[in-house]
Amino acid sequence: MSIGVARSVALLGLEATPVTVEAHVGVGLPGLTVLGGTGPSFRQAGDRVRAALGAVGHSVIQRKVLINLAPADVDKRGARFDLAMVVAVLRAIGELPVGEQVFVGEVAIDGGVRGVPGVLPSIRGFDDVVVPLANIHEATVGGAGAPIGVASVSELLAVLRGHVEVVSQAPPPVEPLDPPPDMADVVGQPEARRAIEVAAAGGHHVLLLGPPGSGKSMLAKRLPGLLPDLDHEAALTVAAVRSVSGRVGTVDRLDVRPPFAAPHHSSSAAALLGGGSGIARPGAVSHATHGVLFLDELFEWKRHVLDGLREPLEEGNVRIARAAATVTYPADVLLVGASNPCPCGPARTGCRCRPDHVERYRARLTGPLADRFDLAPLVEEVPADALASGAGGEPTAVVRTRVARARQRALDRFGVLNARAAAAVVRDTMSREALQVLVDAARRGRLSARGFDRAMRVARTCADLAENTVVGPDDAHEAVAHRGRLDRVWEVAA
Ligand SMILES: Nc1ncnc2c1ncn2[C@@H]1O[C@H](COP(=O)(O)OP(=O)(O)O)[C@@H](O)[C@H]1O
Ligand SMILES: [Mg+2]
Ligand SMILES: [Zn+2]
Repeated sequence: MSIGVARSVALLGLEATPVTVEAHVGVGLPGLTVLGGTGPSFRQAGDRVRAALGAVGHSVIQRKVLINLAPADVDKRGARFDLAMVVAVLRAIGELPVGEQVFVGEVAIDGGVRGVPGVLPSIRGFDDVVVPLANIHEATVGGAGAPIGVASVSELLAVLRGHVEVVSQAPPPVEPLDPPPDMADVVGQPEARRAIEVAAAGGHHVLLLGPPGSGKSMLAKRLPGLLPDLDHEAALTVAAVRSVSGRVGTVDRLDVRPPFAAPHHSSSAAALLGGGSGIARPGAVSHATHGVLFLDELFEWKRHVLDGLREPLEEGNVRIARAAATVTYPADVLLVGASNPCPCGPARTGCRCRPDHVERYRARLTGPLADRFDLAPLVEEVPADALASGAGGEPTAVVRTRVARARQRALDRFGVLNARAAAAVVRDTMSREALQVLVDAARRGRLSARGFDRAMRVARTCADLAENTVVGPDDAHEAVAHRGRLDRVWEVAA
């Protein structure tokens, strides 16, 4: 009996674990048995591998082959181990030299090699990897060295025998990325524009309230463009989420733009938070990580689906328990909600809703999630003649520069954005007058106890945008105005 070994990687969520594939080739009844993995596509690996070996003319299929994957206690599923199985079998019979390469990929029965999801997070840190040609770009993005992409088993053999260096060349991505929409397109809306800027600068969640057509979606889509480019690590995380859930080839370069995800209000908990059969796939909240999660028609969402956001908003990641396994995905988002103030969505005509209907409508957001929003500008319909003039406001590039400076000030001072800073350390940077403004607001019932600390953080961000070391009374007034509107929304409902 001869043994061959090849390295591969198992993936659970975004967490990669090295796997050793061992092939035992011996005498006995011809057959190929695969042990150590689970799930339907893993169970068919034996058939694929045997057919692929046959396709390149290998008589090993006439022998008794046993393939085992180790370690035993790691969840191993999918077709991603096929390439390593082929290599291990051929090494067992001396057809290929031993080696330390890591293989991730699926083989087809005609000897082709197919792309698989999750290559990027699988091969991070490895410098000698062989992947399907379809995955070569994401492997280049995520790997330490220069990966090799193969389109077929015969190419794989040629590479491993040293006959050729790189067999197939994938063309580098050429289409430029779409330019992000610009703030200069937004006419009027000074209050909402400011709220979006404060949100970007401090990491504060924002709720846009206004009638249909007032520009809420327009504003939300412009928020990612105000955020700084992602650092390398964050960009890799965003790409990894796409890699595990997208179609093969979705990740063709490292995109440093903060992502934007806008799931529909009819979304299931699985679509928003992650789920699906087998190993849970990431949901919209993870696709938005390090960027913006936009929940339009916020009051139309199912209550239990929104409730599932509480933990991600608190923790910055989301845990999804399934029978197969519990996985954790990143979910560090800036949340933007948008809604009509009531079910009828009153433009100029005024609201025609019964008060109890309005109450029931808004009740969907009471409690912990309502508490997450620090900013709630009223977005009013811009008159048609103003829209016609087309006179927009400051362009994204200008606002973005202010935002970047404000964020840097917060990071230098607290090590985190203001929305995440501890209340006590924020308080230390408030002037006595600023605190007094908040105390007065609380006394007049315009700030709840919880709203107080949140208003303090927003005021801190306003001061950072103005490049002030100490938070002044004007900053506090502005914070109360942002927060006060929010409190009034719930008052109207009461
Ligand atoms: N303030 C505005 N400035 C420029 N265009 C606007 C503005 N408000 C609305 N529009 C126009 O109306 C369209 C609908 O706006 P949208 O953002 O979808 O509104 P909402 O999400 O509030 O229903 C936009 O695509 C844009 O063409
Ligand atoms: Mg909209
Ligand atoms: Zn109404």
